Amino acid sequence: MDLSRAAAEALDAADPLAAFRGRFVGAREDGLLYLDGNSLGRMPVQTPAALAWVVEEEWARGLVRSWPSWIGAATRVGDLLAEGVLGARPGEVLMGDSTTVDLYKLLVAAADARPGRDVLVCCADDFPTDRYVVAGVAQARGMTVREVPADVDEGLDPAVLAAALDKRVAVVVLSAVAYRSGALADVAAVTAAARDAGALVVWDLSHAAGAVPVDLAANGVDLAVGCTYKYLNGGPGAPAFLYVRRELQERLRQPIWGWFGQRDQFAMGPAYDPVPGIERFAVGTPPVLALAAVEVGARLVAEAGVDRLAAKGRALGELVVALADAWLAPHGVALASPRDPARRGAHVTLAHPRAWQLTQALVDRGVVPDFRTPDRVRFGPAPLYTRFVDVWDAMACLRDVLASGAHEGYPTVRARVT
Ligand SMILES: Cc1ncc(COP(=O)(O)O)c(C=O)c1O
Repeated sequence: MDLSRAAAEALDAADPLAAFRGRFVGAREDGLLYLDGNSLGRMPVQTPAALAWVVEEEWARGLVRSWPSWIGAATRVGDLLAEGVLGARPGEVLMGDSTTVDLYKLLVAAADARPGRDVLVCCADDFPTDRYVVAGVAQARGMTVREVPADVDEGLDPAVLAAALDKRVAVVVLSAVAYRSGALADVAAVTAAARDAGALVVWDLSHAAGAVPVDLAANGVDLAVGCTYKYLNGGPGAPAFLYVRRELQERLRQPIWGWFGQRDQFAMGPAYDPVPGIERFAVGTPPVLALAAVEVGARLVAEAGVDRLAAKGRALGELVVALADAWLAPHGVALASPRDPARRGAHVTLAHPRAWQLTQALVDRGVVPDFRTPDRVRFGPAPLYTRFVDVWDAMACLRDVLASGAHEGYPTVRARVT
């Protein structure tokens, strides 16, 4: 690979997604090398106007009369994600709660659908909230958690997972893209292996949606959740999505019996009787304002196309890896993600004993990655608005920091973020 800056510029010149950069506030002009789109995506240019419309017209003027347009927002945005991003069918995706709450709802519903089985499987290196929800549900139901080990850099070995599947397993919870390393799971193979063992899988797509094709229908996925503030650019605190395969919906019942899942909701009937479709997984009033922002972000991803985004994401990741090998390895930096690009999502993680100090030094120099325990710097060059030269410049900055020792003056202990 040609590692010159000119080569990076040539990649940008040939980038079919280059024009999308101008559709994000600040991406062209703020000078920030923002490589944390896997944590919080940039804000689309259209988002303030979309929010202003809901605030100033629908809320301020329309008041309660605006409900006819709001009431369908959770399924309207869900359908947009289903068809434009997730490879699912309309009526299979619903918006509303956080990823954590949606995971709880689907996990309990899935466990109920597997009576007589008393084991929940999760990955020891999965995102904390997923492990906590699994532990909490297991404790409440008197079930056992089987945590399968995973390599923090290479991800979960499918053979290790297969060995954990038996007749006791009710539900498996896994991430399609590992939050720390970016390791990509084989969604189709794991789903099939679990199904053969009689178990259901709830996939966490938080680091996958908008970054890699998840093809839920083609991969035979039954259940999934994911957040919308990363690659989907829905904004801080944006509601998550949940997916339930159509054929399964009526057989599942989620544990929070709220009125938004109720058949003939405004009849205010005496007993809970959920609708047959995806809305049976709804709980309460949807976050209307936040959904307006998610809709803008989801439309942009759908317009760009997940396949094109994934191809660019892989190429950006390849550049991170190549530059890290050439420039950073001599300074003690090691790749902490799978080396094979086919086994990675859209972020790449580098390990260094001084990772926290390096992260602070980078942020002070206008390069924004993020730190992950124990000693990792995570680079998420979101393909919608990140250029190849941005990656080049960020890596050059990291090389210069390492060479000069500029990071050594920063605190070694991470202060609590409040
Ligand atoms: C894999 C994964 N799952 C879940 C969450 C968080 O979910 P919530 O939207 O409930 O905060 C995150 C947040 O970064 C995540 O990375």
